[in-house]
Amino acid sequence: MSVAATTSPAVGTLYVSRFPTSRGMPRVTMALRSNVISVGSILTKLQQDCATPFPVIRHVADSMTADMRAGLAVDGGSNLKMILSYVDSLPSGNEKGLFYALDLGGTNFRALRVQLGGKEDRVVATEFEQLSIPQELMFGTSEELFDFIASTLAGFAEKESEKFHLPHGRQREIGFTFSFPVKQTSIDSGILMKWTKGFAVSGTAGRDVVACLNEAMERQGVDMRVSALVNDTVGTLAGARYWDDDVLVAVILGTGTNACYVERTDCIPKLQGPRSSSGRTIINTEWGAFSDGIPLTVFDRDMDAASINPGEQIFEKTISGMYLGEIARRALVTMAEEGSLFGMAVPNKLSTPFALRTPDICAMQQDNSDDLQAVGSILHNVAGVESSLSERRIVVEVCDAIVRRGGRLAGAGIVGILQKMEQDSKGTIFNKRTVVAMDGGLYEHYPQYRSYLQDAVTELLGSDTSKNIVIEHSKDGSGIGAALLAATNSKYDHDF
Ligand code: BGC
Repeated sequence: MSVAATTSPAVGTLYVSRFPTSRGMPRVTMALRSNVISVGSILTKLQQDCATPFPVIRHVADSMTADMRAGLAVDGGSNLKMILSYVDSLPSGNEKGLFYALDLGGTNFRALRVQLGGKEDRVVATEFEQLSIPQELMFGTSEELFDFIASTLAGFAEKESEKFHLPHGRQREIGFTFSFPVKQTSIDSGILMKWTKGFAVSGTAGRDVVACLNEAMERQGVDMRVSALVNDTVGTLAGARYWDDDVLVAVILGTGTNACYVERTDCIPKLQGPRSSSGRTIINTEWGAFSDGIPLTVFDRDMDAASINPGEQIFEKTISGMYLGEIARRALVTMAEEGSLFGMAVPNKLSTPFALRTPDICAMQQDNSDDLQAVGSILHNVAGVESSLSERRIVVEVCDAIVRRGGRLAGAGIVGILQKMEQDSKGTIFNKRTVVAMDGGLYEHYPQYRSYLQDAVTELLGSDTSKNIVIEHSKDGSGIGAALLAATNSKYDHDF
């Protein structure tokens, strides 16, 4: 569907507007409407700048592969950190006992308890508690954030029901999913390199996050031990692998984005010291930092410049849930300012950064009604505007251009990882069933995004090979995965 529209009012009319521009400058505009740039031309430019034809996704996939190799060669060798996870063996299914998981990653924080019953009984019982992270903690101090985690954990541990059983005298063990770039120093320690996803907590970067949690647990009187520190991608891979041996890659597409995969240790030149007996280890790519060849619009550049981490996480900023709505909002504000979309005045509410969220643009894209009624009411609620049908159509086109680019680039990234693995182990990826475990709200809830992603994978791999690549949702796998890794790395004797 394409909209050749100009919503500029009739030639020769004067208008005056006293609303702020997207850049925060007060604006008093007086213009002949005939001079107003047409919304249609802004839309066309957006679509062109966002376009991801075959050569673009091919280039992104190949650059992803090259950056992976450079990051495996030497620390700092590329934008991709290619972090060693110290997870050398994945769950076997034999894990038994009561384990805990903590999940700190995006907008929510979760505590989970899991009773594992071994090969026969698998996951016997789970219970969890989920809280949204108070906004002020995202900008507070390290102590405040970790005290919040530890006190939630204390409350959670107190409410244990009968079906969860811990042998007498045994300390509770936790798999801690911490979904930010951490340079792991062992399976149960790692230094935070930087915050992402809008977090700007002071005093954590450069510190061991397990030590931060231990100190907070001590302050809160919680007697628990972190036995595995894992990224959410690694937890997802472990959780999905527990059910399916063909899982080799895991991808998170939620507030933020990242991917990990199973790598051969002899393909990691930067790996020092003893190699794992399995000859394999999981690599956390931190692909959110990738940037080569990504088509960017002026709206992306402005959003990046205004972010708390300008110039960083460019892949994440074009494909993940935290940003898609904001890019669309910026495009709509420009259309309102320069093309009078929504009438003479720029809607004040729409000028607020992050007012339009990715779930809003997703909901708008699900509207199949003739008059796009749901689009109209979302625009009313979010932007405070009454919209015409042609304006609603333009809004949907804006969302679609941005989401299409996001899904296709994510698909290209996945192909980049798979082709790297295939190049090093011919026939072990493309000629057999290989599963990519996916999780995150964006992937789970946005059908158009999922299908654009799949389209790009099929285009790049061809229809025969892509039949072997199963891209599968693994819902909330990272919590169970972290508990499983806590079991694998338990300090107590176990018979699995
Ligand atoms: C973080 C990753 C994380 C991803 C998904 C990114 O912002 O850097 O560590 O895996 O978000 O949660």
